[in-house]
Amino acid sequence: MSKPFSVLFVCLGNICRSPTAEGVFRQKVIDAGLSEQIHIDSAGTSAYHVGESPDPRSQQEASRHGYDLSTIRSRKVVAEDFEKFDLLIAMDESNLSNLCTLSKENPINSNDYQSKLKLFLHDYAPQLKQKNVPDPYYGGVKGFTEVVELIEVASDALLLDIQQQLKESNV
Ligand code: 4NP
Repeated sequence: MSKPFSVLFVCLGNICRSPTAEGVFRQKVIDAGLSEQIHIDSAGTSAYHVGESPDPRSQQEASRHGYDLSTIRSRKVVAEDFEKFDLLIAMDESNLSNLCTLSKENPINSNDYQSKLKLFLHDYAPQLKQKNVPDPYYGGVKGFTEVVELIEVASDALLLDIQQQLKESNV
């Protein structure tokens, strides 16, 4: 079997938005029977929370919608990620900009990784007319609910997009 298609979700702390995206997208991939074909991970552009579980508010909101984030641990984006992943999907423009900077500082080589870098809502749910998944960390429960709902919409479109690419690569 060929190498799985791989996706890395990226936010600032890797304890709220990107683990939620990892958990939601993983469940959709499982439901579609594509776990062997699609590899999923998440990371942060900061090291503020390395080694921590997702924020309890994110875990609770995800769980309420049927997603399990309990096994995820925060890690920081590393240089190898730009080589290893087919897509690196940022939750907001600030993290996309951070990713862009990190990709250019890559000590491994001078490859141009721009085409792998995406902005989740802008690129996969443009109909929402909202570029960023808002950072819920300093807000209330409502913000965490919104994060799950926005991520569910963009995840459906991302899955369709990858399914199409897998089909085309198998012809
Ligand atoms: P995330 O949320 O980037 O969605 O994981 C945040 C988590 C922690 C902090 C900021 C955002 N913080 O400043 O510690």
